[in-house]
Amino acid sequence: MADMDGFKEAAAYGFDQPQKNNSFFLKGNENRGWGIQNRLSRIFNPKTGNTVMLACDHGFIMGPTSGLERVDLSINPLIEYADCLMCTRGILRSVIPPSMSKPVCLRSDGGTTILTELNLNRVYDVEDVIRMNVSAMAVMVSCGDKASEQITTHNLVHTVDMGEKYGIPVLGVTAVGKDMARDARYFRLATRVCAENGAHFVKTYFTDEGFETVVAQCPVPIVIAGGKKLPENEALDLAYRAMQAGAAGVDMGRNVFQSEKPLAMMKAIYAIVHENMNSKDAFEFYNDFKA
Ligand code: 5RP
Repeated sequence: MADMDGFKEAAAYGFDQPQKNNSFFLKGNENRGWGIQNRLSRIFNPKTGNTVMLACDHGFIMGPTSGLERVDLSINPLIEYADCLMCTRGILRSVIPPSMSKPVCLRSDGGTTILTELNLNRVYDVEDVIRMNVSAMAVMVSCGDKASEQITTHNLVHTVDMGEKYGIPVLGVTAVGKDMARDARYFRLATRVCAENGAHFVKTYFTDEGFETVVAQCPVPIVIAGGKKLPENEALDLAYRAMQAGAAGVDMGRNVFQSEKPLAMMKAIYAIVHENMNSKDAFEFYNDFKA
């Protein structure tokens, strides 16, 4: 029994203030469970509603691509400047220090590589995901690809079932089917399929035309991939235009870790995503940055 000496009677009932209902800041995620909302709030900054995710999961399909030969040397120094790290479980366990405090969006499917037929994947065991204390699971969905559409959609459905069961949000990643045009029409369908199957947020590619329609029709937040390496000013412009069109952030890889100045890129992207900096100023910031 607790010591009752000096016990103070409860009195601060706040009669003048009704208990607040906490509405949730992220589009389409108002009605999720507490665990999912709490994890999403680790990935997305509740003040801006946006996120800068750093993607380094490429090795699971590409092997040691340029910039990721030594993840400990190239990525670890950048982690503190990202809101969230996206990687595979192999890299997480072998290279990422468990003492780091950033949320992890775990690439949670794997299977075929660039050497054969992409996206014939199966998903990780959710118990293993839970052991790694991750904040989200990322699963690829390849709409329109005859060989892998069904299996990847099933992977998403299964992962969302597991995510809802254990309070872990799911990132649906739109992999473009081989014969599909990378245009807004395709990405409207692909992002919507991810959201309709329960993804809590969706990763997709920016399109020069009509990206605002992709964002508008997707009922959950969209983050964009950077895609192949571009000159830095173009990559920053892509991030800026995506944000202007309503994206909730980026999940970029190659345009950061293959840049001449990865840390400067991280900081310039951060300024675009969280401080509404335009791409011209962000490029100046990148050029001026000494590190
Ligand atoms: C594809 C992914 C990759 O992580 C992503 O595309 C990497 O980002 P970038 O295109 O910016 O290098 O999710 O499965």
